[in-house]
Amino acid sequence: MNSEISSIAVMTSGGDSPGMNAALRAVVRSANKYELQVWGIYRGYQGLIENKFLELDSEKVSNIIQRGGTILKSARSQDFRTEEGRAQAAQNLRDKGIDALVVIGGDGTFTGANLLSKEHGIKVVGIPATIDNDIIGTDETIGYDTALNTAIEAIDKIRDTADAHERMFLVEVMGRDAGFIALETGIAVGAELSLLPEELTSISEIKSQLKDMLKEQKRSSLVVVAEGDETGGALKLAENIKDDFAKYDLRVCILGHIQRGGAPSARDRVLASRLGASAIKILMEGHNEVMVGVVNNALKITPLRVAVSKKKGLDYGLVELAHILR
Ligand code: F6P
Repeated sequence: MNSEISSIAVMTSGGDSPGMNAALRAVVRSANKYELQVWGIYRGYQGLIENKFLELDSEKVSNIIQRGGTILKSARSQDFRTEEGRAQAAQNLRDKGIDALVVIGGDGTFTGANLLSKEHGIKVVGIPATIDNDIIGTDETIGYDTALNTAIEAIDKIRDTADAHERMFLVEVMGRDAGFIALETGIAVGAELSLLPEELTSISEIKSQLKDMLKEQKRSSLVVVAEGDETGGALKLAENIKDDFAKYDLRVCILGHIQRGGAPSARDRVLASRLGASAIKILMEGHNEVMVGVVNNALKITPLRVAVSKKKGLDYGLVELAHILR
């Protein structure tokens, strides 16, 4: 056990994701086991720079496992991108006698934690939480499963009305740089096409694929478009193809931030609980500058510098499956 650590801080940062509260609860309750003092930081790195701390105990994290969002709030901090901002953040941690920081968030959050450790020697451990699922070192990130289920529920409803009116719908899902949500949602709703940032598809290819499919007696069609797809998103795509599909009375629906909210799924609650507890365990075992994930149902520790150095690749078996089944 690491006797150098007696006080830790924890924050949620970047785009919130369902299950962040469950992870926070697990961090606080596991820290209790080691009799650590736990400070929560409000509004991510911005709150750290502004000294927004709140002492947390078991009771303060009760009744939150089922809640979406984050009770600690979140932010995307421009100040923390500066050396001065990070120096202030490190100073605030030292002034409070905090020995280590647990960050719950995505790649931007991990990049920040890595810098804080490299520049100021702060011990850091990361817990991957983002609906985008774009972090290597874990099969799934906290929030991804809930976001998928939210998107699927919404698109099933869109399918009903698309079918009733024999229309074509372009549905935009989140994912600025990553197509995980678009890919798996597309498979789960039986989309005619899923457009992913990882795959280059020209407008003419999209038109010809859709025309081929519509020849096969399809009366309605559903295209799932990742927000970061190179076509420029669902609205722009609609402008580009609407004249070719006038007969299908094209409609666009952007699911947007709905995908980030809501009660976490069972799978996200369990994942968040596992990762929150593991983050404390590995910190006490002496690990630093790492994140903890789950790969093939086993806990896996990955250096933060590795986690932020590469983009997680899509499973091309699933990409092929989406093509076969459409
Ligand atoms: O958290 C990830 C994410 O939801 C992306 O999928 C999306 O592009 C982005 O955040 C939106 O961020 P914001 O809420 O800051 O506009």
